[in-house]
Amino acid sequence: MVIALDGPAASGKGTLARLISEHYGFAHLDTGTLYRGVAWLVLSENADPTDPVLATNAARTFEIEKLADADIRTKEVGAAASVVAANSDVRSALLDFQRRFALKPPQNAVGAVLDGRDIGTVVCPDATVKFFVTASPKTRAHRRWLELVSGRPELQEAEIYKDLLERDARDAARDDAPMAAADDAELLDTTHLSIDAAFAAARRVIDGVFRRCG
Ligand code: CDP
Ligand code: CDP
Repeated sequence: MVIALDGPAASGKGTLARLISEHYGFAHLDTGTLYRGVAWLVLSENADPTDPVLATNAARTFEIEKLADADIRTKEVGAAASVVAANSDVRSALLDFQRRFALKPPQNAVGAVLDGRDIGTVVCPDATVKFFVTASPKTRAHRRWLELVSGRPELQEAEIYKDLLERDARDAARDDAPMAAADDAELLDTTHLSIDAAFAAARRVIDGVFRRCG
């Protein structure tokens, strides 16, 4: 059983993925962590994320376990992640790990849930259930601002909004594995949904598919 969740930044896909994994006992992989990790490695060497050789080397030597103390949730790392993510060599260096996770989830979990931008289209095109999660840009910027402002009170919501739009545009326009809804993905707009309501809607879809699969 593989559940794929894709969508733009702060649409709520990670929260849904976590709740789904807890509810169904599935292993969860936030694939954005991989791209953020590669970007963090590049930035921590004061290097330029647009340098394709440095980014590719970082992706090839990357180990997710070593990220424990790295602050990868900043908006700077998010922006650099979408730059390194446009590099095909970076993407192919990270692909195997994601596919292995889906095929053979850790701790013998009965299934896997992966969230990102290209899970339903490229990483797991045969996923059992696929979602494309969205929300209006204003709502997403507000959510992300609420998350970041406590640690950085100087952050302006307008700045976060601009960053999100730039990142969405870069993620959707790249040639390799652009952010896109798979043809068979269920669209879930969370703009006016609480986390509980979004989770209930996702569960209805998943339970329906599981019933049909027996
Ligand atoms: O993973 P992604 O970037 O798509 O978003 P997330 O980390 O799941 O959610 C971003 C923020 O929005 C978190 O603080 C969630 O608690 C919040 N959220 C929300 O307020 N309402 C929802 N329906 C979903 C998420
Ligand atoms: O949490 P948020 O939605 O803000 O971003 P993320 O999921 O942590 O992803 C950070 C960046 O990594 C995205 O803007 C994409 O450029 C890239 N990414 C990707 O290209 N493919 C994925 N499967 C996951 C993330």
